Amino acid sequence: MKAIILAGGEATRLRPLTHNIPKTMVPVLNRPFLEHVIGYLKKHKIVDVILAMGQLSEQIQDYFGDGSEFGVRLTYSVENFPMGTAGAVKIAEKLLDESFIVLNGDIFTDLDLTAMINFHRERKAIATIALTPVENPTTYGVVETDGQSRVRRFMEKPPWDEITTNMINAGVYILEPDILGYVAFNTFFSFEHDVFPALLEKGEAVYGYPFESFWIDIGTPEKYFRLSRDLLLRYIGDKDVKFEGESFVHPSAQVVGPAIIGEGCFIDRDSVIKGPAVIGPGCQIGQGATVQGVVLWQNCKVGKEVKLRNCIIASNCYIEQRSEILDNCVLGDRVKVKEGSKLPKGALIQPNEVV
Ligand code: GDD
Ligand code: MG
Repeated sequence: MKAIILAGGEATRLRPLTHNIPKTMVPVLNRPFLEHVIGYLKKHKIVDVILAMGQLSEQIQDYFGDGSEFGVRLTYSVENFPMGTAGAVKIAEKLLDESFIVLNGDIFTDLDLTAMINFHRERKAIATIALTPVENPTTYGVVETDGQSRVRRFMEKPPWDEITTNMINAGVYILEPDILGYVAFNTFFSFEHDVFPALLEKGEAVYGYPFESFWIDIGTPEKYFRLSRDLLLRYIGDKDVKFEGESFVHPSAQVVGPAIIGEGCFIDRDSVIKGPAVIGPGCQIGQGATVQGVVLWQNCKVGKEVKLRNCIIASNCYIEQRSEILDNCVLGDRVKVKEGSKLPKGALIQPNEVV
């Protein structure tokens, strides 16, 4: 079965991390997020993958090529302007002649795809939507089903007073090609707002497939941070430290896992790195700096005696000595934090700012 990954659209809620970089290319454990998604499909023996992309698609193509390095066959479908989730699939229609999988490109899950495909076939559904429980359904597609798992209602981001279930659209669908008859060509069209409601109106066989296994989306910096931490704990032992290549670590420096240190880092004397921590390639951690619970992208320079805790710092940032960046701060690319600055908790700093 083929899968199509939705890797376009806007990424406003993940700012300031998505400046000049598509949401799916945001590094998670020092790899583009999309590499984890492709790895998931491959693990489930799905190796024919179409990437539906918009702006900045060259970055994706340059990195993944024909997919062979990642064990899959990739085909690219590029939109001139955002076509919406369904419009993007419509463009790739000629590549889809049998049942296929659609995956939002900003989710990570352990959902058992084979079991979901069997469920879809047994019910002869035109569409099966994976469903996962969440605490706050208002920022998702809320899906009501009946006792037979047939979908009764699909409401995209409804207000609290319209919510009748905590089961939401997990962003994984098994679809029949017939569904594309419901999508206009070359027009902005969304599964969530247009196609699913139209199918239900027509009484088509739309099913919900509830599952309990791990699921998260990286729609906001907070969720991105949570995913990094969860995957780190999953791939790296509780206290392990993984060096991805050669780095210099001064003998007096302390590195406590779980942590991943990218290639070519320089970790100076008396500095402390405490997990969970992901340090990108080419980072410098200055003398006496303490770095705990951080995600640092590549080529960041952290000065002497800096304190970093529970924050995300994108590429090429320069954190001058004795400054402090604490809980839930998020810095975009090439931010400069001046000597001795103390950023307020939760600060979101846009790319290229000096603070
Ligand atoms: N190619 C392409 N073109 N992809 C798009 C477009 C587009 O015009 N618009 C959105 N996408 C991709 C995004 O990159 C993302 O991977 C996916 O489609 C979903 O879009 P988001 O913008 O992330 O939507 P959302 O997170 O608000 O809501 C969606 O995901 C939730 C689960 O995380 C909906 O599908 C909800 O119903 C769902 O609950
Ligand atoms: Mg999303």
